[in-house]
Amino acid sequence: MKAAQRPLGDTSSPEYLDRLRFPVDPWRLVETEFSKDDLGVTETMFAVGNGYLGLRGNVEDGHDAHAHGTFINGFHETWKILHAEEAYGFARTGQTIVNVPDPKIIRLYVNDEPLLLSIADLVSYSRVLDMRDGVLSRDLLWRTPSGNRVRVRSKRMVSFAQRHLAVMTFEVTLLDEEAPIAISSQLLNRQAGLDEYRANPSPDVIADPRKAEKLEKRVLEPRLHHAADDRIVLGYQCAASGMTLAAAMEHWVDFEDEYDVVTEAEEDYAKQVFRARAKPGQTFTLTKVLSYHTSRVVPPRELADRCNRTLDRVRSEGISTQFEDQRTWLEDFWSRSDVEIGGDEAVQQAVRWNLFQLAQAAARGDGHGIAAKGVTGSGYGGHYFWDSEIYALPFFTYTSPVIARNALRYRYRMLGMAEKRAGELAQNGALFPWRTINGEEASAYYAAGTAQYHIDADIAYAIDKYVRATGDDDFLAREGIDILVQTARMWADLGFWRKIPGDGESFRIHGVTGPDEYTTVVNDNLYTNVMARFNLRCAAQNVRKLQDRWPDQYSRLTSRLGVTDEEIAEWERAADGMAILWDEQLGIHPQDALFNEREVWDLENTPADKRPLLLHFHPLVIYRFQVLKQADVVLALFLQGDEFTLEQKKADFDYYDPITTGDSTLSGVVQSIIAAEVGYHQLAQRYFWDSLYVDLGDLHGNAADGVHVASTGGVWSALAYGFGGFRDQGDVPTFDPRLPEGWDSLTFRIAQRGTRVRVAVRQDEMTFTIEEGPGLTVEVRGHRFSLTQLQPLTVPLDGQGPRIAGAPDATKFHGTVRADGTVIRPSLPTNVNEEIPPTHEIRLDEVLDHTND
Ligand code: BGC
Repeated sequence: MKAAQRPLGDTSSPEYLDRLRFPVDPWRLVETEFSKDDLGVTETMFAVGNGYLGLRGNVEDGHDAHAHGTFINGFHETWKILHAEEAYGFARTGQTIVNVPDPKIIRLYVNDEPLLLSIADLVSYSRVLDMRDGVLSRDLLWRTPSGNRVRVRSKRMVSFAQRHLAVMTFEVTLLDEEAPIAISSQLLNRQAGLDEYRANPSPDVIADPRKAEKLEKRVLEPRLHHAADDRIVLGYQCAASGMTLAAAMEHWVDFEDEYDVVTEAEEDYAKQVFRARAKPGQTFTLTKVLSYHTSRVVPPRELADRCNRTLDRVRSEGISTQFEDQRTWLEDFWSRSDVEIGGDEAVQQAVRWNLFQLAQAAARGDGHGIAAKGVTGSGYGGHYFWDSEIYALPFFTYTSPVIARNALRYRYRMLGMAEKRAGELAQNGALFPWRTINGEEASAYYAAGTAQYHIDADIAYAIDKYVRATGDDDFLAREGIDILVQTARMWADLGFWRKIPGDGESFRIHGVTGPDEYTTVVNDNLYTNVMARFNLRCAAQNVRKLQDRWPDQYSRLTSRLGVTDEEIAEWERAADGMAILWDEQLGIHPQDALFNEREVWDLENTPADKRPLLLHFHPLVIYRFQVLKQADVVLALFLQGDEFTLEQKKADFDYYDPITTGDSTLSGVVQSIIAAEVGYHQLAQRYFWDSLYVDLGDLHGNAADGVHVASTGGVWSALAYGFGGFRDQGDVPTFDPRLPEGWDSLTFRIAQRGTRVRVAVRQDEMTFTIEEGPGLTVEVRGHRFSLTQLQPLTVPLDGQGPRIAGAPDATKFHGTVRADGTVIRPSLPTNVNEEIPPTHEIRLDEVLDHTND
């Protein structure tokens, strides 16, 4: 039963997956039956990638697909955004990730009969994504139309150890009769997702802003294609962005009898066909080694050389080395990052799948950002958002800091463009784009895009967290500080002082959009102001830190950016004077200055077929109500938790939770964390499950577009910060756990300045074990402890914090009188239940001007 339909008190883990088809297994995602019905979702679930290159879980025969997908992080085409009504400063350059040539196709013919999974007579079938090996494998037994049984085993891996490498293997064994076999292995430029028949298999019915824009024209212009021996290389250049790509494949055969090979290489199509007569029991093994290199400037010919070098290296090292290296890389990854759930194997499996997705989205991005869908799909056009800094980077900061560093350095590299963008918006400092690949703003809808100025503070927040957790002062002094300064400048300039009679003077920020995209362009959005205050203080503290500790770095900074003491004092003054609005009448923080004046959307009575709201209502309809797409105030309560009392958190949560739709997958994890903190333990678990299975259970109906990477990162945060009660705002890590009922234990790891500690929470105690490094001081519910390598430390726990059954009362504020005397009563737009037909006949012909007829 879906979690949402069960009573909140039911703490057994929900069945979002058909467990006959996808059995529980703590380390592997297993599929025991092939289905054509949910190809889009399974292509995402079984995608493999390394943060640079990603291959969707398309079946090898390449026939049926929801979306064929091969993606390279950052490899994009640009196009001119055509605004029907132009205005100054609108985003000009659209950017869309390119679906690069598909190397996944390996077609098998036995006695000229093709193996087509969707129609094949399959005696047995299993597909496994092993999260320790980092390999997707498939094992099936096919009965051909003439009755010959054929075992087909294949593997697919994108290497974490070698960024530019992917490997596939394909083994065919006839079990009954000798027969001719042919294996056609291809590399196909599908031109941005179209299949061989040039038809898009999944036309969009409704406009969904979460999908990628379609690239209408030819994107990849062929630049080279050559074949020599068993190696084929194709080279391309994007028509508009000019980005270049080379893709190479090489085949190795292991077969004890004779076989022949036919090679073809054309501009958009390359293949090698291997033909043999196979006797029963003989195995024909094909190994396909692939390499991709991309660039902004390097010509395809040179990229082809790089591909050759990658393939040469693999040839000399051998294939088994590549699989071993993959396993070693993942052993390391899991030793730093694993989270163990005692007492719930199904949740354990899903947790590992989510963490594995984070590695797949970012591990070898090596200086690219982390896209909203990683490299598993084209959703959101392959763009980077604040998802990276607020949702993915906490995980990497505490488990694989080098990955966090690389992603932050990518933001540093776009600082110049962010400065230019600030100028275009008439501000000082830097304004990072809401969504981008190449550093330019790509959000054509400014109200829910560019207006999210908080992106600046989100980046500053991630830098601060990273530097405090790792002690990487080198990054801070050389790069991070410039971002902190330029973002602080933007806030200091964007905000202004306003004196309200009887209320003193405060620093205001007007005309911005907070994280909640169901309310836009508002004054004094709570999240924005709270995070801007943090950003201003953080910049001031870090500039002073440089001044005190590294005068050389400080003088370099002042000559680079001209920071003065007066300016720092001004940032501090703005931070101290920041308007943090409070509604006395309701006893809550209003989301923005006008928020509480709006009517409250009646979510309880909104028909299920009108959700998510963004697909059924014009933005203006949504904007005039109090209704949230995603956590906004509640997110501020988490990220800047020390700035609020527990009572305030509870009151705000009680108010906002019933009007939060969760239409964005970025919401549930945050609601889970604050629900856990304030005591709604059952609700915390509910939100956690709903986030854990966002893709595995396709809970938002768009898992086919790719993995929701922010949610996967949020799953880690919900575990470590939510249930583990970890907080990192002070000088030492603090813990105040909230272990869910029904879990025996929760074990996670965090690394702080070279010390990695394993934190195991049980219902009545928690244990800290140093796994690496000298030691650490931690605080548990107000008591400090020094951890050393000598022995683990166990701290008794008196319960798991406050426990409130159920969820906030959705009607609690109904009937409340606002400060202006009006009463809060939820309502709905008029046409929510049925369309209102026009009264007059629609006569397009008559409306048009006929003078030219
Ligand atoms: C959310 C944004 C998020 C984006 C990409 C949107 O639906 O509202 O907060 O950054 O998705 O994941």
